[in-house]
Amino acid sequence: MLLSPEQLIADLESTLRNRHPRPHPVRQLLLTGRLTRDQLQGWARNLFHEFRNIHRFFGVRYQKCPVPELRRALIENMIEEEGEDMVGRKYPSHAELWVRFGEGIGIAREEMIHYEPLPGIRAALEMYVALVQQSHWAVAIGTGLVFEGGGPKRMKEEREALERHYPWIPARALDFFRVHEYHDEGHGNFCVDVIRDHCMEEHLQSEMRRAVENRADIMWLQNESIYQAFVRPALAPETAREARSI
Ligand SMILES: [Fe+2]
Repeated sequence: MLLSPEQLIADLESTLRNRHPRPHPVRQLLLTGRLTRDQLQGWARNLFHEFRNIHRFFGVRYQKCPVPELRRALIENMIEEEGEDMVGRKYPSHAELWVRFGEGIGIAREEMIHYEPLPGIRAALEMYVALVQQSHWAVAIGTGLVFEGGGPKRMKEEREALERHYPWIPARALDFFRVHEYHDEGHGNFCVDVIRDHCMEEHLQSEMRRAVENRADIMWLQNESIYQAFVRPALAPETAREARSI
């Protein structure tokens, strides 16, 4: 059945909610200040793998997009990722901001840059690059809805939790989160607009729905890999049960 733009967005939002109704235990433990410093470092080292490889899916979205005005928006987004300082604005690349976050929690710059991520983290990135490569161009952009659409709220929650529960982290180390609190609002709306304007065929709507589920699973796999490697082995059985049932 072909959905109207409003119905489609509502349908994708409920698809997302139903795919993983509860936040992943890693995120629950982070937000409640129950990750140790070592676990926080493991989380940061591994998430860096996607942040340093953003060109691998952003570049594909740009290459595929046939609409000139949308390509301009995609370029603007890539400039922010690669460092808006190249056009005279304030921030360096988002990868660099993550390296600075790492330094703030005790990871040396070189250590972060050369870290060999967990197998599940590497697999998750390849899954996402393949998803973007194999999708219709509007679906490839639309998958940004999962991260960028929920991004500002998630980044704000994470920054506030880090400030509250890990007060030893210097304030300047949290710029990665600050920058996404406002940047991603625009990016989320951009993804929504592309879905509304360019997914008005039944087969594209099904493809979009499957892609949103896949992207949600990829992000779940990232968290699960980190949880199993660094967090779960150190948890008391009752805390592990609680984290799974929150
Ligand atoms: Fe970013």
